[in-house]
Amino acid sequence: MDVAILTYSGMPQLDAYEAPLLPALAELGVDARPVIWDDPAVDFRDVRAAVVRTVWDSHLRRDTFVAWAEKVGRLTKLYNSSDVLRWNTHKLYLRELEEKGVPVTPTVWVERGGSIDLEALTRSRGWDTLVLKPAVSAGALKTYIIPRAEVSAARSLVAEVTASCELMVQPYLTAFETEGERSYIFFDGAFSHAVRRPPTLQSAPRGFAKPVVFTPDAGGELKLAEQVLEAIGRPLLYARVDVATDNAGVTRLQEVEVTEPSLFLSLDPEAPRRLARAIAAKL
Ligand SMILES: Nc1ncnc2c1ncn2[C@@H]1O[C@H](COP(=O)(O)OP(=O)(O)O)[C@@H](O)[C@H]1O
Ligand SMILES: [Mg+2]
Repeated sequence: MDVAILTYSGMPQLDAYEAPLLPALAELGVDARPVIWDDPAVDFRDVRAAVVRTVWDSHLRRDTFVAWAEKVGRLTKLYNSSDVLRWNTHKLYLRELEEKGVPVTPTVWVERGGSIDLEALTRSRGWDTLVLKPAVSAGALKTYIIPRAEVSAARSLVAEVTASCELMVQPYLTAFETEGERSYIFFDGAFSHAVRRPPTLQSAPRGFAKPVVFTPDAGGELKLAEQVLEAIGRPLLYARVDVATDNAGVTRLQEVEVTEPSLFLSLDPEAPRRLARAIAAKL
């Protein structure tokens, strides 16, 4: 095997959006196969490269995952690198990007074990509905929408999250309900395709049901996504920059996904080949 495409035990054969990567690599003569990231039987010295993809349980044990990545990164070429994976699996990276001038969704951070007066926050910031979420998360796990009238009852949710993790509090961006999020996807720094996505949070209202590919304008959001990659300033085999419109109509960075994002390869007929070429160039 040349390349291990890393997935998790809950999805041994990759997700339908990601699976077209395998035939695209085969077309280039690269023997790539799905490998469960924490399978103890795998010896990573036997593969020329390992590409993190659908490791969708890594946020549930981030410390284990980051330690694993450091080890594997010494045995083979790991993409993205263990440094990037460590950096990206805790959302405090958003604060760092904000300090570098990236417009990020406004966020108040509460430390682990800490508490926050949400009523005072809604008053002082003029935020109406709030979103609470852990700083280590994926798939909208432990993410809560709190209408202003229910803020006082949300104390237990704050305690639930801060018991094990830093907490993020944001204004609820109503544009998620109509236009959703836009994901700009890059391979080795080059823009590949863009996807408009409905809210991941299943309980959130939505104007459309499924992710759709679209052609972005050259300026605007694509430029912002490129500015984000520049601010990160590290090599990234794959990157997904998620942006959303805030309640004042300004586009904001919602997340940078350089760990285990869905790259929606099946939505763009050329995308699997673009990623396959980027991987083959690393061997
Ligand atoms: N500020 C926000 N306004 C509206 N919806 C939000 C906000 N933050 C998160 N959400 C909802 O929660 C989902 C997951 O949040 P996100 O920040 O993308 O974290 P992750 O993808 O890591 O779970 C989003 O897709 C959206 O449905
Ligand atoms: Mg997200």
